[in-house]
Amino acid sequence: MSKTYKITVMPGDGIGTEVMAETIQLLDAVSAKCGFKLEYNEQAAGGAAIDKYNDPMPDSVIAACKASDATLLGAMGGPKWDHYTGAMRPESGLLKIRKELNVFANLRPVSVPAALANSSPLRPEAVSGVDLLTVRELVGGIYFGKPTGNDGFEAFNTMRYTVPEIERVARVAFNWARKRRNKVTSVDKANVLDVSRLWRDTVKKLHAAEFADVELNHLYIDNATMQVVLNPRQFDVILTSNLFGDILSDTTATLGGSLGLLPSASLGEKYGLFEPVHGSAPDIAGQGKANPVAMILSASMMLDFLGETKAAAAIRKGYETALTQNLRTADLWREGYKKASTSEMGKVIREEALKSL
Ligand code: IPM
Ligand code: MN
Repeated sequence: MSKTYKITVMPGDGIGTEVMAETIQLLDAVSAKCGFKLEYNEQAAGGAAIDKYNDPMPDSVIAACKASDATLLGAMGGPKWDHYTGAMRPESGLLKIRKELNVFANLRPVSVPAALANSSPLRPEAVSGVDLLTVRELVGGIYFGKPTGNDGFEAFNTMRYTVPEIERVARVAFNWARKRRNKVTSVDKANVLDVSRLWRDTVKKLHAAEFADVELNHLYIDNATMQVVLNPRQFDVILTSNLFGDILSDTTATLGGSLGLLPSASLGEKYGLFEPVHGSAPDIAGQGKANPVAMILSASMMLDFLGETKAAAAIRKGYETALTQNLRTADLWREGYKKASTSEMGKVIREEALKSL
């Protein structure tokens, strides 16, 4: 009997539904050819869950995620739900599922194959060949630190990390570096923040104790934000905290010319949550303009996580071939390229992925 994996699928809102539909078709095609099965359990999340359950992330949805082998998430939020505050916001639902699954390491890879170098707002010779991985701490720091407050006159959040929280995410970064080009850049604001000084000391100690074979350097967040634009090829693995990683990963997304290309994997000790870095893009939803690549590459990361590495590689191959065929969705299209809708892009990636198997 062929192996079956249980996947919770949360298309979410806006373009989430259309990019998820392409991704499921692709997964079905590739898994059939590779001899394993994916069994989907679809759940509402974000705005869709507010509409259905009056809660952006109900316990029943969290339980479904915990009962499955992996979770695929589209995007959450949109103007329809913008008037909600606090725990009722779709974004709060996203933070809740990350926290509940304790997926403390968020991997956001960015690579710019030669075929994409022309799409970047930066000079092609500066970005061609970029291949970096941001490892963002995802369930701590200022996103979750207590106390918080807002009395209408004064408001505050707290940036907090403990040594074990820093160590566990740093370990993920060092281990990935060993599988890649063996270099970690840790990003903080240790010239100003106590929490960053603890971050830096902890990363240094862990490095000396367990990862001395990996090259390590440290940058302040302001400089790092500039460096990823000035000279992105210097980076292999970037290790950073929740807030800095949020900012820095959007900056790195510009290297390939579109946020629509960036996948992510959020991993903990047990669970895996896979979602594109982009949001729900309500302005283009339902028009066939969305780029499915970020969602598709997130699914490829999911297959790697499940151990289906051949299928995962086939998806990446399908994407690369679509690029070299000069196919571009609206976000990346320019004169001289073939314009593809969401489903046309999905179809070519699917066909090319299957051919490569
Ligand atoms: C991201 C998003 C989220 C974050 C928001 C929507 C809560 O920007 O995944 O980068 O800040 O983590
Ligand atoms: Mn973000």
